[in-house]
Amino acid sequence: MTQQPRHASSPAADAATTPATTPATTPATTPATTPATTPATSTATSTATATRVAPLHHLLGIDDLDAAQVVHILDTAEQLLPIATRERNTVPTLRGKVVCNLFLEDSTRTRISFDLAAKRLSAEVLNFSAKGSSVSKGESFKDTALTLDAMGVDCVVVRSGSSGAPRQLARYLDVPIMNAGDGWHQHPTQALLDVFTMRRHLGDLAGRRVVIVGDLLHSRVARSEVQALNLVGAQVSVVAPPTLLPPEVERWGVEVVPSLDDALPDADVVYLLRVQRERMHRAFFPSTREYQRLWGMDGRRLRQLKDHAIVMHPGPMNRGVEITGEVADSDQSVITEQVTNGIAVRMACLYLLLAAPAVDEEAGR
Ligand code: MLT
Repeated sequence: MTQQPRHASSPAADAATTPATTPATTPATTPATTPATTPATSTATSTATATRVAPLHHLLGIDDLDAAQVVHILDTAEQLLPIATRERNTVPTLRGKVVCNLFLEDSTRTRISFDLAAKRLSAEVLNFSAKGSSVSKGESFKDTALTLDAMGVDCVVVRSGSSGAPRQLARYLDVPIMNAGDGWHQHPTQALLDVFTMRRHLGDLAGRRVVIVGDLLHSRVARSEVQALNLVGAQVSVVAPPTLLPPEVERWGVEVVPSLDDALPDADVVYLLRVQRERMHRAFFPSTREYQRLWGMDGRRLRQLKDHAIVMHPGPMNRGVEITGEVADSDQSVITEQVTNGIAVRMACLYLLLAAPAVDEEAGR
């Protein structure tokens, strides 16, 4: 990603300087500043709005971002949350822009979340999935890209089973590309929405202990999550069956803990990963019952947590495998909140990719 530093801007500030995207007659076009009811946002992790932040050109992976960019995305999402949660109306910020959701691998929840995020910002949304499309008739990835280009889309959100597909698309197209999950590689918006959710509950994440549990081997979420948590200074522990630990985990900057019971008392966050059966072509653990006994989060383990600790999961959950119903539905579970926050974070990313550059240009930044 080529990045030139610029002054960080907020959707609120930008809306005020952009008549094109914010007609004076439109009610509630300016995302609210953080509402009084918002749980503590750390000062240490929200200083990016006062410093210089490199602009986003694509969102391909967390490994392309620096800490200031992550904080800027989270701060922008904080301002957009009232619109994501429908406390306020949609805003016209992306009116006239076309966002294409190119989903080449099955997904319902992530696609719907991106769809809603774009619509809340008044973009037009094209949904393009592999099933029933030219891709299923054998069209190459490059030709699909060129077709989208010819249609004049302004941004492509891409999900693919192939690691690296979003970066490849960014070579073919001259518009911002957002990675909505590629193979085992990256799922940057999931990591950002998770860190956003943690920050809303715990404030400054520096020094906080996040325990990631389960199928790390197949998880693009875990790879992105660890990078994002490292950027905001959290301490990450991982716990998994040895067969589901990636060989390169020692280089992730995490502590590998052999037993879940040992990791829980110090945890501020327990992050459970889905057992990705569709990616398992051999037995990685003896049985579901064994997995649940050693690596699953149940009521007994929930009671080992500190009172303020939260339980998270990217969804979709396998109840009775990595998490029991008692834990999923407990007061310490923030799993449905992650889903809502995902809309705000994806709105923030779309805003920063599509609207912020125009605002900067207009303001001569
Ligand atoms: C993903 O797309 O990776 C999901 O959000 C997590 C999962 O499928 O387990």
